[in-house]
Amino acid sequence: MNVKDILNKEELTKEDLLTLMKIDNKEELQLLFDKAYETKLKYIGNNVYYRGLVEFSNICIKNCKYCGIRRENKNVERFFMTKEDILKSAEWIYENGYGSMALQSGERTDKEFIDFVEEILKDIQKMTDNGLGITLSVGEQTYETYKKWREAGASRYLLRIETTNKNLFETIHPKDELHSFEKRLQGLKDLKKAGYQVGTGVMIGLPGQTEEDLVNDVIFFKENDIDMIGMGPYILHNDTPMGQEFKGKILSEEKRVELGLKMIAICRIYMKDINIAATTALQGLDPMGREKGVLAGANIIMPSATKTSERVKYQLYNGKPGINDDAEKGKTSLEKSLKEIGENVIYGKRGDSPHFFSRNKK
Ligand code: 5AD
Ligand code: SF4
Repeated sequence: MNVKDILNKEELTKEDLLTLMKIDNKEELQLLFDKAYETKLKYIGNNVYYRGLVEFSNICIKNCKYCGIRRENKNVERFFMTKEDILKSAEWIYENGYGSMALQSGERTDKEFIDFVEEILKDIQKMTDNGLGITLSVGEQTYETYKKWREAGASRYLLRIETTNKNLFETIHPKDELHSFEKRLQGLKDLKKAGYQVGTGVMIGLPGQTEEDLVNDVIFFKENDIDMIGMGPYILHNDTPMGQEFKGKILSEEKRVELGLKMIAICRIYMKDINIAATTALQGLDPMGREKGVLAGANIIMPSATKTSERVKYQLYNGKPGINDDAEKGKTSLEKSLKEIGENVIYGKRGDSPHFFSRNKK
């Protein structure tokens, strides 16, 4: 079946998804993006929601082979923001009308960390009179911890599966208890049970990843009734095992951006009412990556509200954009470029995943 016919179908099969993922010419690619944007307009409107992103610590117990802040990278200066500074960032986000924020850090599972996050959540909700939607993205935890943080005021949680191909997962992570595919799956189940809007995502353009793997990822998102997706191209980091091994050996940056945009578009067409982020990694490989992501169906952007002095230390991959911008400057220029593509930034609303509410009505 040709691309045009597939895009006119109500239900897509795995084979259809694969045909879309393999599109290799500009005309059909544009048809795909247009259909995805049309779907976004229908279910979300020409709206973009911000989540002010605070990357509050780069201390991590894990050792993922692709990530710049992995435990064994001795070339990073580790930091942990003070409670006061985190609250200041939250206040900035709230006062600028973002409606939502995301708290992200490396993974820790010790009691001190768990208590700290709980306290921060409570303080932010108190300070803003429960006015901010808070997303957590602080790694795998126990069900009890997820529950505790949910009760303290977090309503969304982002835990990326990274890839649904178990073999590939196991080649990009060390083989040990701490990096278990099964545990990651269990985490997603626990998060749903604890009452979160659940987000996940994958890296795109990993060495050895096939188009079929990506199609399986998309099907996984749907089968697991995921509310939000944050995914982006894989980017090499020099101080990592994969960054060393695969330098010059993976898809070109352009191809990885294209594949990232295809993934956004296919997820929008296939899942319709979920929240999809145009991520920083997309912008990392293409200065207009986020805007292109929105035109391919994304509706969420996570502008950094992390202090400039700490941004430079939170580098998961080489060439992370915006590390020298301040939050204020980032805000104005992004809003302008979104206006230029006909999109409104919605202030003062949380921008919850419409899908979360429809799945809870079922
Ligand atoms: N390139 C792209 N994304 C990365 N992440 C970590 N390292 C990289 C990299 N080198 C992503 C992972 C992780 C999230 C916090 O950042 O998907 O879940
Ligand atoms: Fe830690 Fe996340 Fe990086 Fe893995 S991807 S090393 S868990 S910060």
